[in-house]
Amino acid sequence: MSLSVEYMGLKLRNPIIIGSSGLSKNIEGVKKLYENGAGAIVLKSLFEEQIIAEATKGVLQVPNNHTEMYDYIKNYTRENSIDDYLDLIKKSKESTTIPIIASINCVSNTEWISFAKKIQNSGADALELNISFLPSDDSINSKSIEKKYFEIVKRVKKQISIPLSLKMSYFSAGLSNLIKELSWTNNIDSFILFNRFYSPDIDIDTFKFRAANTFSQSSELTTSLRWIALLSNKINKPLIPSTGIHTAEDVIKQILVGAQAVQIVSSIYKNGAEQIPVILEDLKKWMQKNNYNSLNDFRGKLHYQNTNNEQFERIQFMKYYGGIE
Ligand SMILES: Cc1cc2nc3c(=O)[nH]c(=O)nc-3n(C[C@H](O)[C@H](O)[C@H](O)COP(=O)(O)O)c2cc1C
Repeated sequence: MSLSVEYMGLKLRNPIIIGSSGLSKNIEGVKKLYENGAGAIVLKSLFEEQIIAEATKGVLQVPNNHTEMYDYIKNYTRENSIDDYLDLIKKSKESTTIPIIASINCVSNTEWISFAKKIQNSGADALELNISFLPSDDSINSKSIEKKYFEIVKRVKKQISIPLSLKMSYFSAGLSNLIKELSWTNNIDSFILFNRFYSPDIDIDTFKFRAANTFSQSSELTTSLRWIALLSNKINKPLIPSTGIHTAEDVIKQILVGAQAVQIVSSIYKNGAEQIPVILEDLKKWMQKNNYNSLNDFRGKLHYQNTNNEQFERIQFMKYYGGIE
């Protein structure tokens, strides 16, 4: 039996990609994930603000009302230098035999982009861009937001020849069309669906904001499950779900609807890197029980067109809500 996966021309020993997070912020973390069987690792993201701040040697144009934010960026940049990041890529490649994917968290089509070449030169097997716009500015319409995706990936792709993946949010009124048209540009080699935003909550005793649920739960799997199911047969690039994948059962569901592989973060924070072999063992047991020898044997078995049903569409909402007294 083989769990291997072809992903953007890279060979993964299994479908478990550890998503970008503090788990992969240093070489100790990377080695631990590798030794426990990760199929590939996405390194912690660099932020475009870090790249710009270092390029301008900390001399940033500070708008009057944003001093606190810029102070934070300066301090963060001092403690997390981009040279350290390039070094992490090199060390990760030297210490492992699996694909190492660098990550940049960005929102603008500006000068930080030329830095992508340095990431490639440091040995990264691929680059993942986390471009997640929160459509919170009421002066910007959806077309202008979507246009930014096209502009950023086009410019980044010109800088590099390694595969480029796009991690995005589900905040788009025309999500299917957006992903389809992005896939047609051939500037993107895979889509990661979706980024999970930091969400503030409120403590009603102290009247202060606090972080809500830093880590996901399995129940959050359903959003990416829906979109992978709806899109996997329409998009000619691999789709990788992110958010809420905690167990082998979650991995199996995602592959059944057409995912090429999966990204996991919270489950590893909660259970340690030892969760990777647990998931892989359970996955193998399920495949054995169902007489599957490879992931291709069941990938997409339940995607939208294959099942010819409307599980993820409006008619189901009517049946579901109509049936609840
Ligand atoms: C502590 C923490 C740090 C994260 N840092 C990053 C990051 O630097 N870049 C990024 O693209 N995503 C980051 N993420 C998001 C994860 O990659 C992932 O998309 C999200 O946690 C959903 O997956 P999960 O349900 O498996 O946790 C982070 C998540 C956590 C919990």
